[in-house]
Amino acid sequence: MGVRKNQSKLTASERNLFVKAMLAIKRRGDYDDLVRIHTDRMTSDWDTGQPVGHISPSFLPWHREYLIRLEQALQSIDPRVTIPYWNWTVDRGRTSSPWTGSLLGGDGRPGDAQVTTGPFAYSTGNWTLNVRLDGRPYLTRAMGQSTPTLPTGSDLSAVLARTPYDASPWDTTPAGSFRNGVEGFSAAAHNQVHVWVGGHMLTSVSPNDPVFWMHHCFIDKCWADWCAAHPGLPYLPGGDTANVVDVNETMPPWNDMTPASLIDHTRFYTYA
Ligand code: CU
Ligand code: CU
Repeated sequence: MGVRKNQSKLTASERNLFVKAMLAIKRRGDYDDLVRIHTDRMTSDWDTGQPVGHISPSFLPWHREYLIRLEQALQSIDPRVTIPYWNWTVDRGRTSSPWTGSLLGGDGRPGDAQVTTGPFAYSTGNWTLNVRLDGRPYLTRAMGQSTPTLPTGSDLSAVLARTPYDASPWDTTPAGSFRNGVEGFSAAAHNQVHVWVGGHMLTSVSPNDPVFWMHHCFIDKCWADWCAAHPGLPYLPGGDTANVVDVNETMPPWNDMTPASLIDHTRFYTYA
């Protein structure tokens, strides 16, 4: 059980432990196995074509379990490590934390968008992409090029005020629901952050960029904050809904975790 912290508040030694553990699981192969799980789950899991991890109520519990799997791998290297979260409503600069040489490295360079600074630069020899969509083995970013802005604090407050958790037809269209908003179909939120970072974050192999985990950690914290702000409001759907993960249904590929088993995140970690 660990405490997940804001990435901007990490001490130098906490940053170093996180980076070292990431590089260790990359070397060991666990990291690429996790990237592959995400890529596989981008394609449809149901007759409707909807995937379980996205465009669906299970977006939040699926990624919660996915992050727990990464955190367990990191903690097998060093039990003190947790996933830091990136609050992009506050840390909005292109050269400030998390985009520093001691954490994630900076923007991609002009021309090929290759990340050339920090511990995840291809030139270090420690971050060669093995799960990729084309021949390029290096991580890419193109900050602010596909959308100029990150979501703001007021965008996020509006999303956190939304109820219910989700609504039929449980996809891109229930525009008033919390899940639809925080995923980013009817509000500036999760999706827009992927687009703002650009490069690999725009693709199905987005977990190749370590910022993926810090971004999703913040989205996960938003879910925890929403639950705390709306006590008693349940995960939906409750049951008997075709092509959607009901509260007591298991989620592929693990098939041993349900939304109900994941709703209380304090069973697994807490947020500082
Ligand atoms: Cu995802
Ligand atoms: Cu995402």
